[in-house]
Amino acid sequence: MFSYRHGFHAGNHADILKHMLFLEVIAHFQQKDAGFWVVDTHAGAGLYDLSGVWANKRAEYQDGIARLWGLSDVPPMVKRYKEAITKLNPDNTLTLYPGSPWLALQGLRKQDKVKLYEHLSAEFDVLRKNLSQYPGLPPRSVTAEQHDGYAGLKSILPPASKRAVTLIDPSYEDKRDYRFVAEAMTQAIQRFPTGCYLIWYPRVNRREVEQLVRQLKRLKSLQPLTWLDVNMTVCKAPPDGHGLFGSGMFIVNPPFRLGQQIRETLPWLTPILAQDATARWELEAGTSPS
Ligand SMILES: C[S@@+](CC[C@H](N)C(=O)[O-])C[C@H]1O[C@@H](n2cnc3c(N)ncnc32)[C@H](O)[C@@H]1O
Repeated sequence: MFSYRHGFHAGNHADILKHMLFLEVIAHFQQKDAGFWVVDTHAGAGLYDLSGVWANKRAEYQDGIARLWGLSDVPPMVKRYKEAITKLNPDNTLTLYPGSPWLALQGLRKQDKVKLYEHLSAEFDVLRKNLSQYPGLPPRSVTAEQHDGYAGLKSILPPASKRAVTLIDPSYEDKRDYRFVAEAMTQAIQRFPTGCYLIWYPRVNRREVEQLVRQLKRLKSLQPLTWLDVNMTVCKAPPDGHGLFGSGMFIVNPPFRLGQQIRETLPWLTPILAQDATARWELEAGTSPS
């Protein structure tokens, strides 16, 4: 039985990489008037209280968003991300941290839709309560289901809008997630090869991580797929072989300029989030075979 609660980790270095890229991709999609869907297969609670007991148990946000909070001269991609968090904390005290659903909602236009899946009932209840308090939420634009996100994704693709950004963000506490993600992506690409997919993965000492990334690079579709694989290491791997020492995002069909934006941002961001001298970032770009 797995009971991962994102509230313990909200605002950490991994959230920064994931949420910054997620927001940037959404912003690229908004450059066209045509509506699009944001699909979040592993939504979590939507909003997190950084002054609460959970967030302060390990205070991961202190080595995450708190390190960025007081900085003003930041690269454009970090600026967009910080602005999203500032909207939630207008008095400039860092108290609330947005999860991926909240970030998707902030950019929602009337022609767009957000589809959220969260399977843990306790987390889903909090998500629903948080959504009910979102100011001015257009009722028919957002659906939230207590459901398996992999199955949900399969059931809704291809999107009626023909444009969609999908975030797949499991905790991988259940190591079957590595396989589930690869299978879900294989099916998603068959149903909707032109979608943009962001897949978060942990940097931990597990062979399944390398295997997942290899499988994602080999995704097959009738047309060639482009991809970016970016990862950021913040500290050396813990000696016991367990524990997160960084994270990565694999992005299928990224917006054209995203690779360049990452190259302009990560050399700045990595030293800020570094926990020791081994911190580094890597970016690889490629095309999957058709
Ligand atoms: C890393 S958290 C998500 C964080 C969120 N995406 C964010 O960025 O704010 C992973 C969430 O996925 C949920 N989850 C785990 N397996 C799932 C599944 N098969 N379908 C939907 N949700 C799942 C967990 O309960 C947890 O809340």
